[in-house]
Amino acid sequence: MKFTVPLAMVFGVLIAGCSNDSTKKDNRVDQLLSQMTLEEKVGQLNQYAVGPELTGPGEKTGQTKIRYDQLMSGQVGSVLNVLGAKNGREMQQQVVENTRLGIPLVFGYDVIHGYKTIFPIPLGESSSWDLGLMEATARVAAVETSAAGVQWTFAPMMDVGRDPRWGRVMEGAGEDTYLGAEIAKARVKGFQGGDLSSTNTIAACAKHFAGYGFSESGKDYNNVYIGQHMLLNTVIPPFKASAEVGVATFMNSFNDIDGIPSTANPYLLRDLLKGDWKYDGMVVSDWNSVGELIPHGVARSKYEAARMAINAGSDMDMEGAAFVENLKQLVEKGEVSMNVLDDAVRRVLTLKQRLGLLDDPYKYFDEAREAEQMMKKEHLDLARDAARKSIVLLKNEGNLLPLKANRIAVIGPLAKDKDTPIGNWRAAAEPNSAVSLFEGLTEGMPDVNFSYAEGCKLSIGPNNFVNELQIENSDRSGFAEAIRVARGAEVVIMNLGEPAYMSGEARSRSDIGLPGLQLELLKEIYKVNKNIVLVMMNGRPLTIEWEAENIPAIVEAWHLGSMAGHAIADVLSGRYNPSGKLTMSFPRSVGQIPVYYNHKMSGRPSTGPNMVFYTHHMDVDRGPRYPFGYGLSYSTFSYSPVVLSDSVKANGKSITAKVTVTNNSAVDGEEVVQLYIRDVVGSITRPVMELKGFQKTMISAGESKEFTFEITDELLSFYRLDFSFGTEPGDFEVFVGSSSANLQSARFTLK
Ligand code: BGC
Repeated sequence: MKFTVPLAMVFGVLIAGCSNDSTKKDNRVDQLLSQMTLEEKVGQLNQYAVGPELTGPGEKTGQTKIRYDQLMSGQVGSVLNVLGAKNGREMQQQVVENTRLGIPLVFGYDVIHGYKTIFPIPLGESSSWDLGLMEATARVAAVETSAAGVQWTFAPMMDVGRDPRWGRVMEGAGEDTYLGAEIAKARVKGFQGGDLSSTNTIAACAKHFAGYGFSESGKDYNNVYIGQHMLLNTVIPPFKASAEVGVATFMNSFNDIDGIPSTANPYLLRDLLKGDWKYDGMVVSDWNSVGELIPHGVARSKYEAARMAINAGSDMDMEGAAFVENLKQLVEKGEVSMNVLDDAVRRVLTLKQRLGLLDDPYKYFDEAREAEQMMKKEHLDLARDAARKSIVLLKNEGNLLPLKANRIAVIGPLAKDKDTPIGNWRAAAEPNSAVSLFEGLTEGMPDVNFSYAEGCKLSIGPNNFVNELQIENSDRSGFAEAIRVARGAEVVIMNLGEPAYMSGEARSRSDIGLPGLQLELLKEIYKVNKNIVLVMMNGRPLTIEWEAENIPAIVEAWHLGSMAGHAIADVLSGRYNPSGKLTMSFPRSVGQIPVYYNHKMSGRPSTGPNMVFYTHHMDVDRGPRYPFGYGLSYSTFSYSPVVLSDSVKANGKSITAKVTVTNNSAVDGEEVVQLYIRDVVGSITRPVMELKGFQKTMISAGESKEFTFEITDELLSFYRLDFSFGTEPGDFEVFVGSSSANLQSARFTLK
């Protein structure tokens, strides 16, 4: 045991006189810093994932002993994956009481789409285009997480994702930069609330900085080749926006960009983030991404890796032990300056101070609050609302939906699955805790006669390590029963998709069709009953060409979380009129990837039907199967032409674009009205169009509503040829409509 000094004694009057005055707080961090030994400073930059064995006195060997000793001697600044107020308090107490300065730990965890109450996977939720909703679900996640003694989530992921083979697209907000930035801000605000030191808010983390979504061929952890303009114009804006709203931390990405791993990239971390943006928060590495500088082949040893990472601007080493093992020596030898070390330590201490941990290391550990906060009714109600708003109606031929039938067959390996809807990154959710589709339907539509058949199995591997090779693809023994059930029904609901762990980290796929025997089953059912509603549960866009051609109704239901079944039943029954729109294009084939709406024109765009020598694949229709911004409703909306307030816009002045949208149907419905802009000629090539605004509003049956968008210089600005940010005079095209492929347009000139 080490010398014990309670924190309050060390800071005496400063703690007693604690106030919200930020100068005083900063002084407190500096004062603490001035008392720390070199080892203690290094310790603050060390983060481990630890299990409960590290809190108890039991016999410890190997790594566990090293980690325990480090924990008890002030050589660990943060831990991840310690859950529960009781466990957290015990660990915090050991550290506070046994270390010389009693500096509290900060506890981190991946709360990606809910803690116990699980919301839709972020890609799904982004389809709601409802920023208030996304802020609210992050808020509830923070309430539950903080009640479980965790003060820091590694979310939101704000990597723009254009390659659905990459399994982590499920964690993001889709392919668009503007929408991604708006969603990033909403989620950060939700997690952090107005006051980080309040016990029901948590620190957020802008991850993964940067370029992770562009891994070559969609293979996770793979190399990235993007140019500087693309980095600045496409990848960086959500990160910059979240820094502007005060996101407490950043996380490095695993990838390199054109040879420079992000964890050791001084341009990204020192010049851009901490330099240009004056970011004063803390940068944590990704899991051993400091150590991975060795297999990346830019460092020979952990010693070199630690030097490169901290000098580049990474402040905390997650699970790499490179800092804790080497930084002392690096500083003593002058390879890392004391200024660099102090700056990193100051950022870590400032995070703890902002969270209120320096005032009261135990403030987040309240078992009574924990017992009371989990999965409260209002949390589950929000989960249901978020889930139904995330559903995207992709096809509804002959108005098969909402359901009118009385005899309905429910078929498919996911229909009674209570686990898949919770998705990957389900934090502390109980396994099998979602409402299944079958439960939702039978509870929500008691007058309908539902029959059920599984049809085929999906996963034969251990659930959380499922990969393509562990998907069942030979057992057709359930087909006959499914066909029998389908024959006797007026309508068949087929519930197919990917199991929960088929998307997410390390779950890249080279074929993104329905896995296993599902398509074969669907075709067999189609032979006996064509009235099929396909309900898909998946973590990424899938290639569904045959399905889109043949199946009359298709509902994209993602992995929708705890209340999935109820939410889907709300939509299928018509209790909720679907309003979701895709935030990521659905490709027609894998060979088309990446396919995204805001591509560049190229020097050889299509100019007519009989062209050969232009940018295209000769064996597939141009464009995606379902484009960005697309989604149907039970209402039908028509758009008036776009009217601009002026055909000339002066620099510094704004103009407006107006459109009238009419609900021509007999059903009230919400529409997401989207604004896109094209910069016709630029100093660098520019996207064919870019989303620059959207409004989601309820329009009653028969009602017409006018929508006004303000076009400002900010919306027209980009990183230009010389990398400066601003506008360029010239012509712009404005598009307003219901999806990136269904638009009215007008033109103006920027003087
Ligand atoms: C992931 C991060 C995550 C971290 C901690 C890494 O493998 O890339 O997103 O926050 O693990 O669990």
